[in-house]
Amino acid sequence: MDLNLSGRTAVVTGASRGIGLATVRTLIGEGMRVVGVARRVTPELEGSGAVAVAADLRSGTHAAAAMSEALTELGGVDVLVNNAGSAADPTSFLETDEAHWQEIFDLNLFGAIRASQAALPSLIERRGSIVNVSSINARVPAAAPAAYSASKAALTALSKSLAEEFGAQGVRVNTVSPGPIRTPLWDGPDSFGARAATAGGVEQADFVAGIPDLLGVTIGRFGEPEEVASLIAFLVSDLAANITGADVIVDGGTVKGL
Ligand SMILES: NC(=O)c1ccc[n+]([C@@H]2O[C@H](COP(=O)([O-])OP(=O)(O)OC[C@H]3O[C@@H](n4cnc5c(N)ncnc54)[C@H](OP(=O)(O)O)[C@@H]3O)[C@@H](O)[C@H]2O)c1
Repeated sequence: MDLNLSGRTAVVTGASRGIGLATVRTLIGEGMRVVGVARRVTPELEGSGAVAVAADLRSGTHAAAAMSEALTELGGVDVLVNNAGSAADPTSFLETDEAHWQEIFDLNLFGAIRASQAALPSLIERRGSIVNVSSINARVPAAAPAAYSASKAALTALSKSLAEEFGAQGVRVNTVSPGPIRTPLWDGPDSFGARAATAGGVEQADFVAGIPDLLGVTIGRFGEPEEVASLIAFLVSDLAANITGADVIVDGGTVKGL
C-alpha cells in the first residue's frame, strides 16, 4: 500500500529514541523529509537521515526556536507528530508536589501546545495533519502516577478541540494511545521502569518482564515502537483523509472496554 507521503515534510518531537525515533525512521522510509526534536541528539537520531534539532520543549523559548528552525529547514510542514513525553514519578498523589505536576504538564501538554501553535499556520497552508502521542492512561487512569494520566487525558481532549477548530481549514488532528511499548522509558537507566522497580523493591528486568501480565495485555507481550510508528504513518497519510478527532488505541488488547 503506497501511503503517498514521498516529498512531504514532518516534525517529530521526542525523536532521539523509542517511539519518536521509530516514527522518524518510518516516515523517512516513506520518502518524507523529517526534522527530529529532542534535548539530546543521539547517534541513532543523527544516523536516521533526519535533521536533528536540540531543544527542551518544556521551555517556550526553546520550543519556539526549535520550531522556527524546523520550518526554515523544511520550507513548511505537512505533518507534526507531538510525541515527546515523560512518565511521572511513580509516587502516590500525596507524595507528588506541585512542581512535579507542573513539570509533567509542561512537557506532555504544553510541549504539544507550543509545537502546534508554531506549526499550525504552515499546516493550514498545506492542509496538513497532527498526531499527538497520548496513552491508554488517558482512558484508563492508573492510581499512580496521577499526573501522567491527567496530562495525557488533557492532551487527548486538546487533540479533539484542535480537530474541531481546524478541520474546516483542512487540518486533521488525531491521537494515538499506546499501551506498554518496549522503549527506554521502561528498560533505560534512570527511567520510569527503573524508578518503579526500585519503588517496588524488585529488579528492573523482572519488573519489566512482568508488565504484560500485570497490565493484562491480551497478546501477552510489549508492543514495539515500530507498531506505533506505522499507525502514525497511516494516520498522517491521505489514506486516512476521513479520520480526524479520533483516538486510536495501539495496546495489544490492554484496554478491555469498548
Ligand atoms: N513506552 C510506552 O509504554 C508508552 C505508552 C503510552 C504512551 N507513551 C508515550 O509515547 C511517547 C514516547 O514515549 P517513549 O516510550 O518512546 O519514551 P522515551 O523512550 O523515554 O523517549 C522520550 C523522547 O522524548 C524526548 N524528551 C523527553 N523530555 C523532553 C523535553 N523536555 N524536550 C524535548 N524532548 C524531550 C526524549 O529525548 P531527550 O531525553 O533527549 O530529550 C526522547 O526522545 C511519550 O509521550 C509517552 O508518554 C509511551
